[in-house]
Amino acid sequence: MLKPPTPRPLAGRRVLITAGPTHEAIDPVRYIANRSSGKQGFAIAAAAQAAGADVRLIAGPVELSDPKGVRVTHVESARQMLDAVEAELPADVAIFAAAVADWRVANEGDQKLKKTDTAIPPLTLVENPDILATISNLKERRPGLVIGFAAETEHLIDNAKAKFARKGCDWIVANDVSPATGVMGGDRNTVHLLTKDTEGVHVASWPIMTKDEVATALVAEIARTIGP
Ligand code: CTP
Ligand code: CA
Repeated sequence: MLKPPTPRPLAGRRVLITAGPTHEAIDPVRYIANRSSGKQGFAIAAAAQAAGADVRLIAGPVELSDPKGVRVTHVESARQMLDAVEAELPADVAIFAAAVADWRVANEGDQKLKKTDTAIPPLTLVENPDILATISNLKERRPGLVIGFAAETEHLIDNAKAKFARKGCDWIVANDVSPATGVMGGDRNTVHLLTKDTEGVHVASWPIMTKDEVATALVAEIARTIGP
């Protein structure tokens, strides 16, 4: 028997997604990293691809296979991630699920730092570019729907609302990443979708789901919003 055709509500749409951590080099053999697995961003990429979108995934260093049918650019640092994102514009939707390192080392060593160089090497940090804010505030080629994530370990909704006001994006997906939740690296996620209209910010709290289910629900919400 013939299977019914799969609905492809995002056919003809380009969806850009960032995922995973970034690594910021200290010297040729050491780096600053974080606990992001990339699973949520990769799941969103797969769900968007299944919905018919032309998906461009910019991935930091992760231990995941590239989703089938998705064009993946692998990067290491925040600055490389920003360059790769800009290279994939224009896009209809951009989803920033990456856990971008906020800081990098100011004076990256050309050679491995040696114990004998100084007593303890001082690591001076400088701020990385904010990829979500940069793309949200583009005058030209801003994607029609820009979605950020807010990973918080406390005061989840209040912090996410403040972030929403600061970033200039259209939606925020807020999630609790305090160690007890097991979200960082785990397979489940409890998220709250923050949207806004003329009346203010709306918070939709979703039940705990697998990261695949969160991805499918988010893609369905995107499809409903931007239409066929
Ligand atoms: N983000 C980004 N580039 C950065 C930092 C964050 O694109 N340099 C994006 C993340 O991908 C996420 C959103 O901004 O979509 C929020 O990231 P988060 O780390 O929660 O917020 P920050 O603004 O960095 O604030 P803080 O870490 O202090 O909570
Ligand atoms: Ca951050």
